[in-house]
Amino acid sequence: KTVAIVGCPFSGGQRRTGVDTGPHALVSAGLPKQLEELGWKVEFNGHQKFEEIGKTITSDADIGVMKQPRLVSAVTKAVADTVEKHARAGHLPLTLGGDHSLALGTVSGSLRVHSDAALIWIDAHADINTPETTETGNLHGCPVSFLLGLPGTDVEPFNSWVPAKPLLRSDSLVYIGLRDIDAGERKILRDNNIKAFSMHHVDKYGIGKVVEMALDHVNGNSSRRDRPVHLSFDVDALDPTVAPSTGTPVRGGLTFREGHYICEALYETGCLVAVDLMEVNPSLLEDRDAQQTIAVGCSLVRAAMGETLL
Ligand code: ARG
Ligand code: MN
Ligand code: MN
Ligand code: MN
Repeated sequence: KTVAIVGCPFSGGQRRTGVDTGPHALVSAGLPKQLEELGWKVEFNGHQKFEEIGKTITSDADIGVMKQPRLVSAVTKAVADTVEKHARAGHLPLTLGGDHSLALGTVSGSLRVHSDAALIWIDAHADINTPETTETGNLHGCPVSFLLGLPGTDVEPFNSWVPAKPLLRSDSLVYIGLRDIDAGERKILRDNNIKAFSMHHVDKYGIGKVVEMALDHVNGNSSRRDRPVHLSFDVDALDPTVAPSTGTPVRGGLTFREGHYICEALYETGCLVAVDLMEVNPSLLEDRDAQQTIAVGCSLVRAAMGETLL
């Protein structure tokens, strides 16, 4: 098995600097070697070169309230093409962010190859605002709405490459870890009947049962649990005591083990076709907190790629 590391040094989907250094930090911490030690063949030819794309965009005024829409659109399109290319070669794309707007690209790329894939989104946030509902204009809060083709997402410049027809059905998405949802997002989740396990559900049922229910949901309760899964993991799903160095931390998150359990259990299904690890921002806090967050990020990825305790 080959894993293709797609390092995405990108911060344009939100306002804080430094999240673009996340991929470098994860790779420098030894992630490629750690994956080789798990038996993977690792393909990594350097990080994505988004500066080139940046240079082609001379001005990027807000569109509606959307911030840096041209840059985010061009970068996510490039990411979609890269992820698609690796997936077609039969490799497992592992995308390292960078902010979570990148997942518009990663999931688009996956779905071009695995059109029946489901999306499991681990996050404190739903990232399902539309250009109409977003209160911040930050596109890292919006990728899921574009994937679902929700009303308000057929907008320039994204409609130059994101198909108007939904890429993903709303019943093919499950959230785990939610605890900070905007009012507009709550309405979207309800209106579209989207399956979401908040931290309340993690407390109530335990993480084992929650992952079980999540897999049941995307597999339509069929006992053949063979549906391909794209895992998009925002490190802020974890509690800030576990992963402090991230742009939008929210208290009351997943424990170290709950986060790892999700990754391990999804690996065990044998159905993972792509993994994202997003929103690691090593520059926000003192070095100790940054190092802790990077180490946890590497560890989550290893868990999703087969590291076992015994
Ligand atoms: N809901 C807020 C917004 O729309 C926060 C989103 C945070 N997203 C993230 N990927 N960390 O801006
Ligand atoms: Mn490849
Ligand atoms: Mn988040
Ligand atoms: Mn997110």
